[in-house]
Amino acid sequence: MESSLELSEPRLCSNEGTISVTRRDSSTLPDGIERVLLTEDDIQARVRELGAELSAHYGCRKPLLVGVLTGAYVFMADLCRAMDIELDVEFMAVSSYGIATETSGVVRILKDLDTAIEGKEVLIVEDIIDSGLTLKYLLDVLRRRNPKDIRVVALLKKIRPDVPPLQVDYLGFEIPDEFVVGCGLDAGRRFRNLPYVAVVRTA
Ligand code: IMP
Ligand code: MG
Repeated sequence: MESSLELSEPRLCSNEGTISVTRRDSSTLPDGIERVLLTEDDIQARVRELGAELSAHYGCRKPLLVGVLTGAYVFMADLCRAMDIELDVEFMAVSSYGIATETSGVVRILKDLDTAIEGKEVLIVEDIIDSGLTLKYLLDVLRRRNPKDIRVVALLKKIRPDVPPLQVDYLGFEIPDEFVVGCGLDAGRRFRNLPYVAVVRTA
């Protein structure tokens, strides 16, 4: 029987913002993208390392991975598949930026956890740490629920000497203080599905 799975040609769309042809080729970047900072290979290799490190740390203790929506959904999906141990997954949604690229300084819980975390080993999974306000808030909120342990893994952290040190136990990459997209990160609800991390064009 012939397989119904065939490799399709990339689609050429004429509508604004099409990325299907260019997504894996950094020589032709989508409109609005200035340059690639981390390639898909860079990211996948680092995620595999983080997964191995985390698996070795938790062993058979079944951590609860708490992904911070929306940005962390891609990193969470990749990271949990790079961990070859038993684990549980939940998501929280917090608001900080809205559609702006500057933080408002106000963090609110939009979606809370579905289960209690008392006595559990919790691993917060963040996409990026910028001002650190979101992470600081989450750590405060979750610590009050008496988990056995809380650790933090972030794919990216911006180099910002003005930001006080924060608990980040596992980090993918330190990046310059620029606004980036891809791997779950958006600019005005665009570019989350780019498999690389790129700097957006500002002018
Ligand atoms: P914070 O400033 O550390 O609180 O960052 C809060 C959230 O803003 C992050 O978890 C991201 O979802 C988002 N964010 C921060 N910097 C960027 C960026 O460069 N691109 C896209 N989203 C960002
Ligand atoms: Mg986030």
